[in-house]
Amino acid sequence: MFITLEGGEGAGKSTQIRRLAAALCGQGRAVFLTREPGGSAGAEAVRGVLLSRGWEQGAEMLLHFAARREHMARAIRPALAAGAVVLSDRFADSTLAYQVAGQGAPRAMWQGLCDLVLDGVWPDRTFLLDLPPEAGLARAARRGDTNRYEALDLDVHRRIRSAFLAQAAAEPGRFRVIDATQTPQAVTAAMLAAL
Ligand code: TYD
Repeated sequence: MFITLEGGEGAGKSTQIRRLAAALCGQGRAVFLTREPGGSAGAEAVRGVLLSRGWEQGAEMLLHFAARREHMARAIRPALAAGAVVLSDRFADSTLAYQVAGQGAPRAMWQGLCDLVLDGVWPDRTFLLDLPPEAGLARAARRGDTNRYEALDLDVHRRIRSAFLAQAAAEPGRFRVIDATQTPQAVTAAMLAAL
């Protein structure tokens, strides 16, 4: 099973993915925990390139998909083939939200790259940790490790949130929208109940 966590800045994905992994390990399942951009040596190198400076929107999307292809070939596919539950902190929905809705890259380019690059591998379940961008950005600022995406205008973050919610509405079978303003315990419980 391939499970992804999605959401805007400060939604608590990193904390929640670790809690979910611990719960699934406790049930005796083999779990492979990973993240994007990154998750394999080459993809982590591309992450550094992506976060270090700004890019033309289409070029930025291509870099995210280059990292994703590498991540899938070297990490996700082998883990799925070995029977692990793969948990990824972000995946292709983030590119739709950030690069298309947030930064104005063409949606057709995203769709075309999903078709060309992913070889039909797609998450079985996606948890959208949803909260207002004001709240998420405040959490991220308190955490202190801000990146260049967090510095984008509030309007951009609002478009990112709307795009995630629209994607969830378009694919209700795959998505579960979780209220990320709840306590960490309640968020984990909601994800486990939905699995
Ligand atoms: P991440 O490590 O999840 O950051 P955070 O924990 O702060 O949410 O991801 C790094 C940044 O990369 C994040 O700000 C969102 C951005 N991103 C995209 O713009 N497009 C993508 O396809 C992905 C996977 C991430």
